[in-house]
Amino acid sequence: MNKNSNATMTGSSDLSSDQNANILDHAPDGIRTNDNRVPTWWKILFVASVLFAPVYMLFFHGGMPGRSVHDQYSSHLGEMMEVRFKEIGVLTADRQTILEYLNEKPEWLAVGKATYQANCATCHSADGGGLVGPNLTDDHWKHVRSVEGIANVLNNGAGNGTMPAWKNRLHRNQIVLTAAYVASLRNNPVAGKGPEGVEIADWNE
Ligand code: HEC
Repeated sequence: MNKNSNATMTGSSDLSSDQNANILDHAPDGIRTNDNRVPTWWKILFVASVLFAPVYMLFFHGGMPGRSVHDQYSSHLGEMMEVRFKEIGVLTADRQTILEYLNEKPEWLAVGKATYQANCATCHSADGGGLVGPNLTDDHWKHVRSVEGIANVLNNGAGNGTMPAWKNRLHRNQIVLTAAYVASLRNNPVAGKGPEGVEIADWNE
């Protein structure tokens, strides 16, 4: 008997005999399927991926420090900071230094901005307009009365810890540069949270 004879069942003869050999009766919307064997290379690849996945997960996400992309990023960021901070030494978080970086060395505010975006934006929003924490772009302040007061709040926290203390988490230069960056936010007030606290004078007064 001709191997191709079952092709007539499906009303087509343009398929090769190999393709027709395993054709299924089921033809939804006229689409016919071949019940071919899954190729061995495909099965090997499938089993290999399944075996590889837990090993990969444990190695990179198993909690060993230094392996995740985030860990590597922070350690590179730290190294970069150290290199850049060699240029400026260790800064003191006093009024004169913060005003100097605010008014005369704005190129360094980018470091403060990066620190702010990474650590503060969750509570004060990316543009400083405030979310959980107050709006940092307006003239009303709860704890801060002068520019060095910003660094003081950063170092020690405020509001019984609702504003965390950053003294042990940030480099001293990051405190100064972030304080200068926060001070600079007042140049572009945004309509975020409404005013809280008292109205204070310009940073330079
Ligand atoms: C977990 C949320 C949270 C994070 C993260 C946070 N803050 Fe705050 N921050 C607050 C809250 C809440 C207050 C207000 C505390 C109060 O009401 O007494 C505050 C207050 C402040 C103040 C004083 C504002 C004023 O009106 O006197 C400054 C300045 C400030 N934060 C800056 C920062 C900076 C810079 C960072 C990042 C290094 C940061 N905050 C991270 C929640 C946060």
